[in-house]
Amino acid sequence: MPQQRIVLRNCGVIDPRHIATCLEKDGFKALVKVRQEMTPEEVTNEIKASGLRGRGGAGFPCGIKWEGARKEPGDEKYVICNADEGEVGTFKDRYILEGDPFTLIEAIAIAGYAIGAKTGYIYLRAEYHHLFELLQDAINQARQSGFLDNFSIDIREGAGAYICGEESALMDSIEGKRGECRYRPPFPTTAGLWGKPTIINNVETLMNIPQIILNGADWFNQMGTERSKGTKVFSVSGDVSKPGVYELVLGSPLRELVEELALAKNIKMIQIGGATGKILPYKMIDTPLAFETVLGAGAVIVFDKSRDVIDIVHRTMEFLAEESCGKCTPCRQGTEVMVEILERFYRGEGLKKEIKDLEDLSSVMMLTSLCGLGQAAPNAVMDSLQYFREAYESRVVGN
Ligand SMILES: Cc1cc2nc3c(=O)[nH]c(=O)nc-3n(C[C@H](O)[C@H](O)[C@H](O)COP(=O)(O)O)c2cc1C
Repeated sequence: MPQQRIVLRNCGVIDPRHIATCLEKDGFKALVKVRQEMTPEEVTNEIKASGLRGRGGAGFPCGIKWEGARKEPGDEKYVICNADEGEVGTFKDRYILEGDPFTLIEAIAIAGYAIGAKTGYIYLRAEYHHLFELLQDAINQARQSGFLDNFSIDIREGAGAYICGEESALMDSIEGKRGECRYRPPFPTTAGLWGKPTIINNVETLMNIPQIILNGADWFNQMGTERSKGTKVFSVSGDVSKPGVYELVLGSPLRELVEELALAKNIKMIQIGGATGKILPYKMIDTPLAFETVLGAGAVIVFDKSRDVIDIVHRTMEFLAEESCGKCTPCRQGTEVMVEILERFYRGEGLKKEIKDLEDLSSVMMLTSLCGLGQAAPNAVMDSLQYFREAYESRVVGN
């Protein structure tokens, strides 16, 4: 099946430096429509009915999040667009920001209308500094065109830390603090940025909003699987001939993405969802890409048969240990201990009991870590033990 471009429909088509080119493609029509024809409640209901789920990794239903913030009292509320894109192997948000900043701005303004916020923030990955000017210029053009009269959008540059993409650490970072995840509850929709009701959405999630408003929830609902509606943008890299950004209807088989589009050969395994994602062996190449199975933020890294699974898992864990914010013990200590054990296996000096140690540590971290980093850090270890156990067992030198 060919790609289906909803999120990416303007990328490479409009000129991201000139709003007129976006207006020719129905740009800002959805914003005008909600302001003139819909109540905030109708907007959140439409998004709820569409079944749109967050594209930043967790897959939380977007409309439910918006409804929660809308129902909170007070007129000081915030919309945050998460453009931190720190997940390993993910570069889809950068492509979107480079190609169509206007639709993102329109979507943030729609979100502001829906929940009753007057201020929006774009939290931009530190390494995407080169996009600051393009985005600021797009915001200025939208303001000059009269689309941001009662709503302001500020850009905040990220702190260069993976954890600052996690929504609660991100809010700490905007507040000028060191980014560390927060205890929940309260959830951001109740007490988020500066203690006020806040919604945080990924770039790609927001990019779907104007099209849902213009075409209706039912149009969106028809695409995808039962619990995964619409399309997903994937960043494909690794051992492939055509790395890049691809948008497919949710539920499409992994094979279509990596073999038919990205032209991968001799595949050993695929890491889906980045450092905290899952590892699938080649035999699972027909797995549908959906929230029900495997998805994350859409990072797809392909490894061919020349790769060593333990090398990959070890490097992944080194990254997570480095990026753990250190606030909770299971994540801070667990990732470090896992690095030590994996290093021994990598050198061919593992102990039999350490396989069990990895499994026990994984369960503790998944159950007791404070945020998604620690909870999902063991994924690669667990999957590699499930599908490539012989790689560990062949490097055992004692009990
Ligand atoms: C360690 C960690 C890093 C994250 N990094 C990002 C990120 O870079 N971009 C993003 O959109 N979400 C990231 N998330 C997910 C956010 O916490 C949050 O779920 C998301 O921004 C919500 O938006 P969505 O519902 O539109 O997906 C991260 C989560 C964790 C645990």
